[in-house]
Amino acid sequence: MRETVAVLDFGSQYAQLIARRIRECGVYCEILPHEITLAELRKIRPKAIVLSGGPSSVMDEGHPGMDPALIGAGVPVLGICYGMQLLAKLLGGSLERGRGGEYGPASIDIHEDGDFFSHLGRKIDVWMSHGDHVTEVPQGFKVLASTDACPVASMGDTQRGLYGVQFHPEVVHTPRGKEILRNFLFRIARCKGGWTMAGFIEEAVENIRKTVGDGRVICGLSGGVDSAVVAALIHRAIGSRMTAIFVDNGVLRAGEVDEIRRLFTREYPLNIDVVDAGKRFLDALKGVTDPEQKRKAIGKTFIDVFSEEARRIGGADFLAQGTLYPDIIESRSAKGGPSATIKSHHNVGGLPEDLRFTLIEPLKELFKDEVRVVGRELGLPDSLVQRQPFPGPGLAVRILGEVTAENVAILQQADIRVQEEIRKWEGYGDVWQSFAVLLPVKSVGVMGDERTYANVIAIRAVSSMDGMTADWVKVPYEVLARISTRIINEVKGVNRVVYDVSSKPPSTIEWE
Ligand code: XMP
Repeated sequence: MRETVAVLDFGSQYAQLIARRIRECGVYCEILPHEITLAELRKIRPKAIVLSGGPSSVMDEGHPGMDPALIGAGVPVLGICYGMQLLAKLLGGSLERGRGGEYGPASIDIHEDGDFFSHLGRKIDVWMSHGDHVTEVPQGFKVLASTDACPVASMGDTQRGLYGVQFHPEVVHTPRGKEILRNFLFRIARCKGGWTMAGFIEEAVENIRKTVGDGRVICGLSGGVDSAVVAALIHRAIGSRMTAIFVDNGVLRAGEVDEIRRLFTREYPLNIDVVDAGKRFLDALKGVTDPEQKRKAIGKTFIDVFSEEARRIGGADFLAQGTLYPDIIESRSAKGGPSATIKSHHNVGGLPEDLRFTLIEPLKELFKDEVRVVGRELGLPDSLVQRQPFPGPGLAVRILGEVTAENVAILQQADIRVQEEIRKWEGYGDVWQSFAVLLPVKSVGVMGDERTYANVIAIRAVSSMDGMTADWVKVPYEVLARISTRIINEVKGVNRVVYDVSSKPPSTIEWE
């Protein structure tokens, strides 16, 4: 069984980051809801449990808790920030509400030489972000580190393998944080490590072969890196028993169909069927303005198209999708979990209930950057692996209000100009996604001596590690000016361009 570490999520903005750091140490890691019971957790036989931080206070009524049985189960536990405070509270320590709290850089004094701070010396820089703090450690624990403002910056019970840190070892502002995590994983939890993308490919290929048997698989390509990697992975596992289908859903970027044909058939030897279904999707979207309804309509039409293609090729039992780990986390409440449904990602929550295919989602445990590594290992060209993510529902979620053929054409033309101009900028390498959005409002303008009353285009460019959080990119004014001038002058029906300066959270990357 695969070596797994469980991160219990108490609502921290850093839970993802903790999981990524652990994976970077070569140990597979999963994020789980904080209410998970010992019986449920035992199914994955975790080598260690990490309790994330969180925005709540353990001193408030109804704060998020955990099954106390997890602490005495013989599995090492590391509590981070809120996680440490919860550990202290559950085991009988004392806490105090912070007066003003402690936020930002701090230097901790390390008092103990044990495994946890092994090879880290006597003083290290860390990142603090907390209100409350522990004043007295529970029985069996020792104070391992402190700062002037925080008497218990770290505590540990070496006998039971229970540790806590008030600071955040997962963020880059704790430069030696990864060494602390490594010490916990390898010295305390006795993990072996060795989880690599090459190992992942081997395991995934084997699983696909086992699941599919001698059945056939249909793999929907979206033009993005995820579905391309899924196709390459399944192709490696079962060869020509997979049919890759690229559906022209009428809400693609301009030139996308030709580009996909070129990338797949010339740069990577995979046969693809291109299905022209533009009209059908636009019909399904007629009159639909609600974002969730749009996603559902598109999800359903995709499935209809795939079902017909399956019949055409003589039957297929499986449908492969490029669902990633963040999609699962963000859509979790659709399955009854704790986090709110932000959007029904069309390859997770937007599927019809009576799906006649068995889904295979071989990337559902991976983050985007891990998927890119897998793609490279599988020999996909960089031009594919480095492509910007593109949402399954396509331009439909970038056209606010009703999606019509006319709106699609306007957005496509605006989008090409965003891409052409932003690609010339030297900072483009740091852009996760850049695109145009067609707003459902008209504004007054003046062109020549004529009054115009036309559409508004918003430009969005964000940087991100995995799509879970994102910041708007500070694209230079000159680049924005060129994009704006070109769109307004060259795209009929647009007389105003605005730039979106919102980060995620609280906004999302796509507008719908
Ligand atoms: P949001 O808008 O939720 O987007 O911040 C996060 C990332 O996911 C992409 N996205 C999707 N990808 N199907 C997909 O395959 C979808 O339904 C979908 N919705 C959003 C989005 O482009 C961004 O990279």
